[in-house]
Amino acid sequence: MNHAPVSQLRADGHLRHLLTLDGLPAATLTSLLDAADALRAQALAGTGLRAQLAGKTVCTLFFEPSTRTRSSFQLAATRLGADTLSFDVHASSTQKGETALDTMKNLEAMGVDCFVVRHADSGAVAGLAAGARPGTAFVNAGDGHSAHPTQGLLDMLTLRQCKGRDFSRLKVLIVGDVRHSRVARSDLQALRTLGTGEIRICAPASLLPDANVLQGCRVIADLDEAVTDVDAVMMLRLQRERMDEGLVPSLEQYFLDYGLSSARMARARSDAIVLHPGPMNRGVEISDAVADGPQSVILAQVSNGVALRMAVLQAVLSP
Ligand code: CP
Repeated sequence: MNHAPVSQLRADGHLRHLLTLDGLPAATLTSLLDAADALRAQALAGTGLRAQLAGKTVCTLFFEPSTRTRSSFQLAATRLGADTLSFDVHASSTQKGETALDTMKNLEAMGVDCFVVRHADSGAVAGLAAGARPGTAFVNAGDGHSAHPTQGLLDMLTLRQCKGRDFSRLKVLIVGDVRHSRVARSDLQALRTLGTGEIRICAPASLLPDANVLQGCRVIADLDEAVTDVDAVMMLRLQRERMDEGLVPSLEQYFLDYGLSSARMARARSDAIVLHPGPMNRGVEISDAVADGPQSVILAQVSNGVALRMAVLQAVLSP
């Protein structure tokens, strides 16, 4: 899809779209995290804010499967009082050959104010934003391996709640399939922007991305070494649906080399936390004992997703 670049920020610095965390200033990230923190209690209670986006319409336009992102955007929009439209790609005219752009423009003509879009192609969401009316907002819910900005933000929110606001004190390790991960790209952009003290990456060479993605990171091949003394471990899903054959020898060997077990986790700081964006491949990148153990904040990430997405919808739909 060829299109002119779309600016995420309005002339006054307010967020117009959220397509990527790349290039967003620290003040913008911090302001979204602060807003999400302030919304947390009401995000979970589900009441009290129904007038905020009354009269607005939010459409979740997902061309790829999702449990967490789609559901939490729907809850976020509902709890802010917006009308919601959940587009089902399998029951739509895309099955008859309609393009994503035509689909979006038809839904826009029905009065949608904000599209939350997931698509298999990197850059697809920016392409749709470029083809929309000037006032229609777009939030990237994950495009190809490029970006998943709300996941990056909710991960920062969870880190900040557990470890405090000073990222410069933190050693954070990202483990696994960085090459195919839009979550890793958004996490890395946010961690750098917020001034994280040390960012470590551990992955097999076959699952490392281009060097520009790893700017400022310390790459450590051995997971036992990489996990030593870190404050947080961010595990990644092995993205077999985006992967050529043979990038990992076997799932069993992958777990032995790069899986997070309790024994490995014991090398991290005693108060270290474990994050995973989901969905998890249990026994492939993470053991049951770690996923369900006392250092796991994986379900806190999911809860934070509702408040964070409320903050993003408020920002892009504010007058
Ligand atoms: N983390 C994440 O994007 O999960 P879903 O694919 O379930 O939305």
